[in-house]
Amino acid sequence: MDVDTIRALADAQAGYASEAYRWLHRHPELSYQEVETARYVAEQLRSLDLEPRIGVGRPGEHGVVAVLGADRPGPAVALRADMDALPLEEATNLPWQSQRPGVMHACGHDAHTAILLATAAALRHVERDHPRSLVGPVVLLFQPAEEQEPGGALGMIEAGVLNSPPVAAVFGLHQSPLLDTGTVGLAVGARSAAADDFTLTIRGCGGHAAWPHRTVDPVVVAAHVVTALQAVVSRQAPPTNAAVVTVATIHGGTKDNIIPDEVVMTGTVRTLVPELRDAMPQRIESLAQGIAAGFGAEATLDYAWGYPVLVNDAAMTALSERAAIRALGESQVVEAEPVLGAEDFAYFLEQRPGCFATLGVGVPSIPLEERPTGHSARFSLDEAALPVGVAYYIAVLDEWARTQQPPPQPSPVATGEGAKPSPRRSGGTIGGPAPYDPAAAVPSMSAAWSAGLGLR
Ligand code: NI
Repeated sequence: MDVDTIRALADAQAGYASEAYRWLHRHPELSYQEVETARYVAEQLRSLDLEPRIGVGRPGEHGVVAVLGADRPGPAVALRADMDALPLEEATNLPWQSQRPGVMHACGHDAHTAILLATAAALRHVERDHPRSLVGPVVLLFQPAEEQEPGGALGMIEAGVLNSPPVAAVFGLHQSPLLDTGTVGLAVGARSAAADDFTLTIRGCGGHAAWPHRTVDPVVVAAHVVTALQAVVSRQAPPTNAAVVTVATIHGGTKDNIIPDEVVMTGTVRTLVPELRDAMPQRIESLAQGIAAGFGAEATLDYAWGYPVLVNDAAMTALSERAAIRALGESQVVEAEPVLGAEDFAYFLEQRPGCFATLGVGVPSIPLEERPTGHSARFSLDEAALPVGVAYYIAVLDEWARTQQPPPQPSPVATGEGAKPSPRRSGGTIGGPAPYDPAAAVPSMSAAWSAGLGLR
């Protein structure tokens, strides 16, 4: 498909994507509680003549899966959207703001879900009008519970969503208001961190606060341990490997003249390199135990492994890059920085090669520092980004189909360097189209923006 076709297919779904996004935004549900969301998604899929499976995951989980073109020959590709919201009281004043007190789509999962629904709708047209742009089934994964461990991805994988039909590659995206609408960010390798939690207990021996020599004061030990833990990152991790050790809570004691027996601390460890991740518990434990022993106290560590490092496959990221450049224009595809947040799409990428992209949802006219980011009660996103996400997915599938078809016979001019897929740095043949202007595709939305519908 050429660029104009891809954009026209996406633009045709802009209204539907907005409608779905607003419905979902009004009806947010917390992780593991996405009952109405799943029902809505399933209804939408049925209206596209798909046969969704609901309740996909571990008992009580609310995953929804539909397969488009189950009989289409070729290896299947999966696209994934997450569906859950966050415990926040929305403070955006959007006309479509949350109708549920204390619950808000503050991470854009409503947009991810709307984009995947609109992509499904667009793919119905692709099947009919551009059948060569699809090879193999497309598995649509609507995943619950991304925001809370153990996360909904594991349950869906255990339920076999990658096996029937056998999925060869998996793609997903996450919004970022720090990128302008119309852009996509991509990165090869580690894209988001492993997130592991710990509880560190310091046991001393309490007593009267005015007779400290008759006690082993766990508060003083804990203070030394918190300080020393900063050196795990600064002195024990390679400076080129980003990592975080944060002690986020510390509890001990009941009264100002009593030294307690015990102090309990909890925190999180973020790493981008699996080897460093594996080494962290031992380093934290030995440091804490060594310090505690020096004071005559004891330290015990409980360590809980969370989401793994999210690693984008090189070939699938190159494919995504070609797709993004073709759909959006070369200048609209940027190199994404790895983040130390975590994302359970990582589990899918442990099973299959794939790519997790960052979709720009920032209103370009709003300065970067004034854009509330995810997990903020003021978070909002540019709806004009919805068809951009759809265009990206259509282009990814089209690019996938190209890679699955036999390569054309080499002609004298197409051999050698020039015949290779051209990365964006080379400014090659696929960098041609002008940047995608989604605002032009949804005039009603751009009018809404200029009218300032409660947004800044
Ligand atoms: Ni999120």
